[in-house]
Amino acid sequence: MAPLLLLCLLVPLCLLLLAVRSSRFAHRKLPLPPGSLGLPLLGETLQLISAYKTENPEPFIDERVTRYGAIFTTHVFGEPTVFVTDPEANRYVLQNEGKLFECSYPSSISNLLGRHSLLLMKGSLHKRMHSLTMSFVNSSIIRDHLLVDIDRLIKLNLDSWPSTVFLLDEAKKITFELTIKQLMSLDPGEWTENLRKEYLLVIDGFFGLPIPFFTTYARAIKARAKVAETLRRKVRERRREYYEEEKEKERKREDMLGSLLELEGGGGGGGGGGGFSDDEEIVDFLLALLVAGYETTSTIMTLAVKFLTETPAALAQIKEEHEEIRAKKRGMEALQWSDYKAMPFTRCVINETLRVANIISGVFRRATTDVNIKGYTIPKGWRVFASFRAVHLDHEYYKEARTFNPWRWLNKNPSTQGNLFTPFGGGPRLCPGYELARVEISVFLHHLITTFNWEAAEVDRLVFFPTTRTQKRCPVNLSRRKSTSNTAMKI
Ligand code: HEM
Ligand SMILES: *[C@@H]1O[C@H](CO)[C@@H](O)[C@H](O)[C@H]1NC(C)=O
Ligand SMILES: *[C@@H]1O[C@H](CO)[C@@H](O)[C@H](O)[C@H]1NC(C)=O
Ligand SMILES: *[C@@H]1O[C@H](CO)[C@@H](O)[C@H](O)[C@H]1NC(C)=O
Repeated sequence: MAPLLLLCLLVPLCLLLLAVRSSRFAHRKLPLPPGSLGLPLLGETLQLISAYKTENPEPFIDERVTRYGAIFTTHVFGEPTVFVTDPEANRYVLQNEGKLFECSYPSSISNLLGRHSLLLMKGSLHKRMHSLTMSFVNSSIIRDHLLVDIDRLIKLNLDSWPSTVFLLDEAKKITFELTIKQLMSLDPGEWTENLRKEYLLVIDGFFGLPIPFFTTYARAIKARAKVAETLRRKVRERRREYYEEEKEKERKREDMLGSLLELEGGGGGGGGGGGFSDDEEIVDFLLALLVAGYETTSTIMTLAVKFLTETPAALAQIKEEHEEIRAKKRGMEALQWSDYKAMPFTRCVINETLRVANIISGVFRRATTDVNIKGYTIPKGWRVFASFRAVHLDHEYYKEARTFNPWRWLNKNPSTQGNLFTPFGGGPRLCPGYELARVEISVFLHHLITTFNWEAAEVDRLVFFPTTRTQKRCPVNLSRRKSTSNTAMKI
């Protein structure tokens, strides 16, 4: 028996060794993507920052693509980084999240986000919570539950505007109020305004320049603790209500917080169902949702208006689209899902704004193993930046790629688009808010266009560092329109 046993053990062992050896050969190391690491420590960070501080950041990538090709190595923000600017390779990076690559944030960012935020989750927990988040904000939920409040709160905001506003500030206020409503059914008021003041300090911590870092960051961490405490109190309150209603067996429809509590209750406690075992985890989760949709959605709202203002033919066409929708309604009757579906040109405008000025210009990942890609090897542990912007602004894929031209989307065949347009990322970390953001931006544009005429109050320039924004926060002079309500009354 003994020799047989030995054989049984040895044969598989040998086969295993053989397999390992041959796979070593198969995964022969290829060269690093070409490029330059620049200066010691600083690398090419200063070149990157100075390019992104202008209206035209493209040369940083363009120059390197010309010299080295679509995948190149550089050294920015403290470590060597492989830039990927090719649609196929970008797709590969996105789709292999959790297998060959992992999202990675510096600890300064993860401290602000909180350990239990979706953005930092990994593996099967991430998978479960990602699809849960998707189901909070999918199109049927927006249609049946969220749209009413989006319409109402945006209108409420615009009704209170003075004759000059900074669009970016107003868009941020709106986005914040919408998210708070969606997360926990709270209408704007003193409570939300106080929370927002603290929240703004947290956001500064994410985006502040790294130079006067310490004070901004310290303030952000303190503010984060306050925001978390405020949210925690709400969570506790709701948990009490939840159990009381549970006893009475009549539960109101829930918001996201309600669904999270339900999940916890239904999961047999201990967070078995959804991975939440205490309030802290719920707070982290809520805060991450508040952060993820905030700068992104509000910047696109603002920049869509800026580009429309600078493109009169597009402004005229979008006005026509929204006046037509308004004309079919009585007075200020709320927008319906069917109205949102009847905004084809608005969709083009939003796509085009996302293409030329998305605040998320790409995503950072870390290789979890040696990865062979397009004839190169990205060494294990190295950082990768998949640049969506480089693809979105590539003349090869978009004609006159660097001008704002919403009409280009009219005849686009979406099936050929695939990996050429990824403003919301893709793969396991595809943005769960992709439809919600579009709806919010569309409703915002609808009310702005049908309520006001406007003009830029000052010349304002787009910049891309530290984030995509305009230098002066987009000041506009507004005048209220009378025509639309008149037509509505005549009908
Ligand atoms: C124009 C608006 C928006 C843009 C351009 C945008 C873009 C993105 C992108 C590119 C990612 C992928 C990040 C990565 O792969 O590492 C992402 C992730 C995410 N987005 Fe959005 N987003 C927007 C609005 C929103 C909204 C309104 C929400 C609210 C529900 C949201 C929630 C999230 C969350 C929770 C994640 C993390 C997903 C994960 O890691 O699994 N986003 N977003
Ligand atoms: C959206 O999510 C809900 C659950 O929250 C689910 O019942 C519904 O089928 C989903 N709808 C779509 C279009 O995926
Ligand atoms: C806008 O982009 C999305 C992909 O994010 C695509 O599915 C859609 O067809 C585009 N819209 C138009 C009008 O081309
Ligand atoms: C915008 O309004 C301000 C204050 O009412 C005024 O001083 C300024 O001239 C206006 N700008 C333009 C471009 O009309």
